[in-house]
Amino acid sequence: MIAEGGVGKSCLTAQFVHNEWIESYDPTIEDSYRTQMTVDQRQVVLEIASLDTAGTDQFVAMRDLYMKTGQGFLLVFSITSAASLNEIAGLRDEIIRIKDDENVPIVICGNKADLEEYRAIPRARGFEVSQRWGAPYYETSARNKTNVDEVFVDLCRQMLRK
Ligand code: GTP
Ligand code: MG
Repeated sequence: MIAEGGVGKSCLTAQFVHNEWIESYDPTIEDSYRTQMTVDQRQVVLEIASLDTAGTDQFVAMRDLYMKTGQGFLLVFSITSAASLNEIAGLRDEIIRIKDDENVPIVICGNKADLEEYRAIPRARGFEVSQRWGAPYYETSARNKTNVDEVFVDLCRQMLRK
């Protein structure tokens, strides 16, 4: 899970793993969780690493390492921030370069979908990016738990198919 700071990585993870909504903002640089789930009758153990894109050199090295070892990527932006969508475009290029694989499992996640009145990215724009990248797009709300399980299940399915 990689994204700009503040788009909702920690909140999405907290909803997915603990069914919990966190209102406060506690910036994290790096986080990791392990959880189990059943996807298509298969037991899977999911290790979720959550990475911010703020970058010291040391941090960039760590990000490269996560990209190298990660088997699937949830690229998160906030529908309220155009900059956060630009950010994931760069990340996708970086992932494909590092993995040396055009078909690496990716799910695009437009979070904060409950904040419709602050929307900066039209829904159609998300689907455009999705089509261009050949990766599914979901609009999620960590606040309302909309599509949260769905993004993780979709990503798991892609990883199982690999
Ligand atoms: P970093 O740890 O700094 O990289 O940020 P993050 O991506 O982990 O963001 P975090 O999950 O901490 O969320 C940042 C802020 O946005 C918090 O105040 C959350 O309550 C809020 N937030 C996250 N997801 C949503 C959402 O779906 N809807 C709304 N309304 N607020 C959200
Ligand atoms: Mg965080």
